[in-house]
This record gives sequence, structure tokens and C-alpha cells, in this order.
Amino acid sequence: MRQDAQYDYRAIKGFAISSLFWGIVGLVVGLLISLQLVYPSFNVPPWFTYGRLRPVHTNAVIYGFTVPAAFSLFFFLVQRLSRTRLAFPGLARVTLYFFNIVIVLAALSLFAGMNQSKEYSELEWPLDIGVVILWVMFSINIIGTIMKRKEEQMYVSLWYILATIVGVAIVYIGNNISVPVSLFKSYPIYAGANDANVQWWFGHNAVAFVFTTLPLAVFYYILPKATQAPLYSHRLSIIGFWALVFAYLWTGAHHLIYTPLPDWIQTVAIAFSIFLIAPSWASVINGYGTMQGQWEQMRSNYLVKFIVLGITFYGLQTIQGPSQAIRTFSALIHYTDWVPGHVHMGTMGWLTMTLSAGMYYMVPRIYNTEVYSIKLANLHFWLVLVGQLIYSVTMWTTGIRQGAMWQAMDHDGSLVYPNFIQTLAPNYPFWNMRTVGGVIFFAGFLVFVFNIYKTIKNAPALEKIQERDVAQTA
Ligand code: HEM
Ligand code: HEM
Repeated sequence: MRQDAQYDYRAIKGFAISSLFWGIVGLVVGLLISLQLVYPSFNVPPWFTYGRLRPVHTNAVIYGFTVPAAFSLFFFLVQRLSRTRLAFPGLARVTLYFFNIVIVLAALSLFAGMNQSKEYSELEWPLDIGVVILWVMFSINIIGTIMKRKEEQMYVSLWYILATIVGVAIVYIGNNISVPVSLFKSYPIYAGANDANVQWWFGHNAVAFVFTTLPLAVFYYILPKATQAPLYSHRLSIIGFWALVFAYLWTGAHHLIYTPLPDWIQTVAIAFSIFLIAPSWASVINGYGTMQGQWEQMRSNYLVKFIVLGITFYGLQTIQGPSQAIRTFSALIHYTDWVPGHVHMGTMGWLTMTLSAGMYYMVPRIYNTEVYSIKLANLHFWLVLVGQLIYSVTMWTTGIRQGAMWQAMDHDGSLVYPNFIQTLAPNYPFWNMRTVGGVIFFAGFLVFVFNIYKTIKNAPALEKIQERDVAQTA
């Protein structure tokens, strides 16, 4: 407790709570769009139609849930790994308030149909400026804290945190350079195939720097803490880091296979996608290596369960992703439901499990208490695991079916299923199963939120002590 007084946790708490709140919003909208695909009556025009709600779902889970989880976990990690206090605690609190204002405006603008029509880059230019300001404030605090660190060594999590900061800044600004024509409308400076290329350079690096380096920073910190075992190999972690950040930046065009984009750009992207297996698996090997002699903890330690299953889904995801980049496989699964299956193994499996482990580790420490219920944490684990598996497996199955039906030909070369609707209708039972998987996952998420809420609620007095200590040592 005394040692913790040197750290400032105030904004961290706000970001953790914001993340959980926007997580609920994003998942509710995810369930709604899942229903809308099967039951059109769930569309309420104009605000609550699928076209408007889909980006609300993706933006809420990416920018509303994942990003503030990173703000809170990174502010926590950076102080502990640097063994120093946050450089600008006041700025961190301003960032928190500003973040919530920007997210509310972003959600309203998407409901209202304002959209740049670029996936994950939907927000119109005034909000893009808000996002950039937020990111600058966040970066100043992280970099400032690292600069005044008392710990000479930079543990690999700090490298991943820095990569997240720099990577997101570069690709977000690069893809959003546009010419405003009114307060609510702008056009990108890139045109045609160039625009698509820049968009997917951004899109895949959103995967790289929001869904990969961000949870990897948390993974590398929590893994040895949860297992109480030293990291298997620091050298491997650093080699993996540099190879990963180098390779990711070239892979975007694997989203544009068989498009008018020059063939050689597609081939470069495919080659780097396959190369990515190596640095991705460096982390998986580090995870499993650290678990050597510790596997019994998979039964007894709920944090270990989350972190090991998380890295396992990352391992599967980073074999599946490169396979999808290969032309022949892409021809089968591109545009099918296979892709949401891939996405949600990564997000509901790898990302959410790792962030949950991070929160379960962090929240009791910043409130100086114990987690409210380990039983509930285990229940949370099983519900999100089962929900995610139902979601992904049903989407892979129907995706392969769809792709095969689109390609099916008679002996004379004519299509067996010439009407798109013939290939669409068989999706319905699978889409219903996806909703079932989503409901189970959501139930797990609610258990998680309840557990964190009770953990916080049970510790108000201690929290005051912490804040008093922080004030005294400031
Ligand atoms: C070695 C690493 C990876 C490679 C090479 C890779 C490759 C791919 C490819 C080729 C696609 C396009 C599929 C298509 O539309 O035909 C894709 C989509 C996607 N991947 Fe991965 N993937 C990797 C890891 C991950 C991870 C760790 C996540 C984390 C959640 C992830 C999330 C996504 C998302 C969100 C999309 C969908 C983008 C969209 O169309 O909106 N990927 N990936
Ligand atoms: C209750 C859980 C969830 C449900 C029911 C759900 C549902 C959906 C649906 C129906 C889509 C549209 C699929 C399509 O285009 O055909 C979608 C897309 C997407 N969701 Fe979720 N989702 C859930 C959780 C999450 C989480 C936790 C994340 C991230 C943290 C996430 C990130 C995404 C992304 C990035 C896409 C775009 C995928 C693409 O373009 O291929 N979802 N989701």
C-alpha cells in the first residue's frame, strides 16, 4: 500500500469504468445488428437501421471499449514498469473527460448517419481532430512518464505501449487526411485504388496496433505476475517485437486480393502476412514457455486461464490470418461470413480475455482490495469462452458453405446457384446461432462488470486512504 502511494491512479479508475460502460453499449448494439440480419423488423429507420448501427458497434467496441481499457491499463503499467508517478496526472483527468465527450459525439454522429464510408475510420473530420488531440494528450503522459523512469531497463510491455502510440498516430492521421466541404462532410485526398490501398493499410494496422500490440503489452505484464514465474525469454520477446512492428506495416493489401490494386502490392502483402506467423508465435511460445511446470495453475488460477486462453486464440488467429491472405484461400472465404468468424475469435477471444485479465489484476490493486468473487470470475471465463466459440465456429462453417456455393459450377460451366438469395438463405440458422453465442458472451461480460463493480464498491474506504496517500506524496 505504502509503495503504491507513489503512483497516481485517479484517471485510471475513470478510464476502466468508461471502458466497461462503452463495452456494454457496443455489445448490446452487436446483438441488435446480429438480430437485424435475420429479422428485418428490428430495424427502426432512420437511426436504428443496420447500416447505421454496424459502425456504432465497431466504433463502440474499438474506440469506446478497447481504447479506454488501454488508457487505464497503460497508465497503470507505465507507472509500475517505470517505477515512477504519472508525468501529468492533471492532464490524464482532462483526457478522461475529453475522451467521454468525443465518444458521445461520435456515437451521435454515427446514429445520425454522418460517415466517411471508410471502415473503422467512419468519423467525420471535426471528430477526427478530437481523436488526434486525445491521442496527443495520452502520448505526452506515457512518453513523459517513460522519460522520467527510475527503472533503467525497458521491459517489453513498454515497447508495445510505445508501438501502440506511434502506430495508431501514423495510420489514423494518414488515412484521415481529407478535404472538408462542410462541418459534417469531407472527402479523402486519395482517389480510387489509392484510397482503398491507404484505407486497408490503416485497417490492418488498426488490427496491428489496437488489437495486437495493445493486448500484447498487457499480456507480457500480466503473464509473469499471474503465474509468479519469470518470462520464458526476454530476448525472444524483443526480437518478436521488432519483427512484428516491421512486418505489420506491409500487410494491408491482403484485404484487397483480386481487386484492381496492382498485383505486386498484393503479393508483397501476402508475403509479409505469412512472415508474420514468426513474430506472432514468438509471443505464443513465450506464453507457453513461461507456463512450463505451471500448467496446474490452469485449474486453480483464474487469471492464468484468461491469459493462456487469450494467447492461444492469438496463436490460432495468427495462423488463420496468414492462410486467409493466400490467393486460393481468399478466393473461397473473402466476402463470406468466415471473416466475421476470424474477427470475433480475435476480439472476443484474444483481445477481450487479455483485457479482462488485465482489469482483474489492476482493479483490486488500485483500490487496494481483493477481487469480489473468484467464482464469478470463473463463470465469466466459461461464458465468454463458450459464447465466442459458438460465434466463431458457426461463422466459419457458414462461410465455407457460402464460398463453396458461390463457386459451384455445373459440368457446362454455369453456376449452380445463380441467384444470390439461394446462397444467402441457408445463413439464417447460423446467424441465429451467432446471436445465441453473442447472448452467452454478453452474459459473461455482465458477470465481469458486476464483479468489478462489487470489487470497487467494497473498497471505498480504502480508496480514500489511497487518494490521501497520493495527495501526501505528490
Ligand atoms: C498474422 C496476423 C494476421 C494476419 C496475416 C491476418 C490476416 C487477415 C486477412 C487476410 C483478412 C482479410 C480477410 C478477407 O476479408 O478476406 C483479415 C481480416 C481481419 N482480421 Fe486478421 N489477420 C491477422 C491477425 C489478426 C488479429 C490478431 C486480429 C485481432 C482481432 C485480426 C482481426 C481482423 C479483423 C478485424 C479483420 C476484418 C477487417 C474487415 O474486413 O473489416 N486479425 N485478417
Ligand atoms: C455479443 C458479442 C458480439 C456480437 C453479437 C457481435 C456482432 C457483430 C455483427 C453481427 C457484426 C457484423 C458482421 C457482418 O458484417 O456480417 C460484427 C462486426 C464486427 N464486430 Fe462484433 N459482435 C460482438 C462482439 C464484438 C467485440 C467484443 C468486438 C471487439 C472488441 C467486435 C468487433 C467487431 C468488428 C471489428 C466487426 C467488423 C468485422 C468485419 O468487418 O468483418 N465485436 N459484430
